Amino acid sequence: MTDSARSTTDAAPAPGAGDFAARSQRISKVYGSGDARVIALDGVTVGIPRGRFTAVMGPSGSGKSTLMHCMAGLDSVTDGEVFIGDTNLTRLKDKALTRLRRDKIGFIFQAFNLVPTLTALENITLPMDIAGRRPDPEWLDRVVDTVGLRPRLKHRPSELSGGQQQRVACARALASRPEIIFADEPTGNLDSRSGAEVLEFLRSSVREMGQTIVMVTHDPSAAAYADQVLFLTDGQIVDTMAQPTAERVLERMKGFELPGVSAR
Ligand SMILES: Nc1ncnc2c1ncn2[C@@H]1O[C@H](COP(=O)(O)OP(=O)(O)O)[C@@H](O)[C@H]1O
Ligand SMILES: [Mg+2]
Repeated sequence: MTDSARSTTDAAPAPGAGDFAARSQRISKVYGSGDARVIALDGVTVGIPRGRFTAVMGPSGSGKSTLMHCMAGLDSVTDGEVFIGDTNLTRLKDKALTRLRRDKIGFIFQAFNLVPTLTALENITLPMDIAGRRPDPEWLDRVVDTVGLRPRLKHRPSELSGGQQQRVACARALASRPEIIFADEPTGNLDSRSGAEVLEFLRSSVREMGQTIVMVTHDPSAAAYADQVLFLTDGQIVDTMAQPTAERVLERMKGFELPGVSAR
């Protein structure tokens, strides 16, 4: 990891600097206008280091989902620039953006978003089937084994537990070997044991397969699986923490949640 990604006060990478799978340059996102105007992101400059597991934390409404959506090209920014690898997303036309999202980015959402009529395996390969790409069989085998789904591949989502369904969604995100996976509260609908299985899997896909993952969570013990944590409040990154533990993250979060107490 580079110094800029570790620093607490200056998470800002210079353009082109460092080995970032994704980065943003002073991005802002404003919703609505007049009385309904909301500044969801307020000039965020951040780099997501390649081959690492990054957690994003912050109070409800601090802009976590907006940051993920803007960095993943699911939503446009009001100002600033987003890069996936060397590609400037903000300059892409719709078609090229769709192709980049399909080929370079994986998503895991709180709702598993599986297709109920397809088996686990068919769900895993669906995005590649749609794209007309054949999954690399060795890679697919490895993903299936890492995610522990081998005995469940022919089951439909309704025949799987919540944890198993989310592991199918993780395998689906990994199947095309994307540059980066964005996960928004992936354990939000899971009991703590299934959540831990999914988090173990995400961590091992980073450690063993070199995957890059950014995960939004509000759970300090989930954030502790990550290599680093970014803290967001009021649409700004206010801190980062390397090698987080649940205790340290919880302690840091307390500073945000007391009304009138500014971030230390
Ligand atoms: N589509 C939208 N239209 C208007 N306001 C929105 C929209 N999406 C999010 N917001 C607002 O932007 C802010 C950040 O939201 P969000 O990114 O969802 O926060 P978080 O994920 O941290 O809870 C909130 O004030 C929210 O109400
Ligand atoms: Mg959210």
